[in-house]
Amino acid sequence: MGATFTAEAMSTIRADFDRIALLSGEEWDHSSQYHDFLSQHIPSPCRESLEIGCGAGAFSRLLAKPSDRVLALDLSPNMIRIAKERSALFPNIDFQVADVMSRELPAENFDCIATVATLHHLPIAEVLPKIKRSLKVNGVLLILDLFQAEGLFDAVTSTLAVPVSMGLKLIRHGRMMAPRHVREAWAEHGRHDSYLTLAQVHKVCADILPGAEVKKHLLWRYSIIWKKVA
Ligand SMILES: C[S@@+](CC[C@H](N)C(=O)[O-])C[C@H]1O[C@@H](n2cnc3c(N)ncnc32)[C@H](O)[C@@H]1O
Repeated sequence: MGATFTAEAMSTIRADFDRIALLSGEEWDHSSQYHDFLSQHIPSPCRESLEIGCGAGAFSRLLAKPSDRVLALDLSPNMIRIAKERSALFPNIDFQVADVMSRELPAENFDCIATVATLHHLPIAEVLPKIKRSLKVNGVLLILDLFQAEGLFDAVTSTLAVPVSMGLKLIRHGRMMAPRHVREAWAEHGRHDSYLTLAQVHKVCADILPGAEVKKHLLWRYSIIWKKVA
């Protein structure tokens, strides 16, 4: 379950996001719509935070407000360069180009670990235990990711999400669709993306993150909030 994790797949992901980084402005998107929801679950006090797959750093900057220090990792050098440019006012964020799978994470170190729209790129059975080891007791894991619609109910909610998404894009960007070259870059990337169904998400949580709160969100996303207990 989860992404195919070969050197070739990783270099494709890195190339895709190096390209996308140069196209995307500091804009609202379907994932950032849920940043406030995730932020409500950041523990307090929060000394050390980690974001995996930070992209251009929008959620890292939110994590940086209540945290003493944020380590923000991303595979794409262009994403990290742009994240640093946009985060000049946040000296407590340490942005680093890194593959989270080969990067050693200190044990029982983080109060909060977040990952937004990135879990589907990672081998879940390996990355979640790695994250768990790196969280302190009482530390909180925040996941937001996309899911694969399955069944009539998902089909109905996915359809309802279309006009909501268009309305939000109109309000946030003043247009209902991204420029063509941006849509093309995402479509190209999407050709090799695959997502878990919500049933698979629940199974992963039952197996690896017992007690996790799983929530389905309208704009084709789900969240997992999990607290590590002793
Ligand atoms: C869809 S983007 C999401 C970026 C950001 N979290 C956001 O919501 O805007 C997924 C990000 O995960 C990063 N990524 C994918 N695999 C990774 C890995 N193994 N280690 C670190 N980052 C990774 C990509 O480079 C990309 O920037």
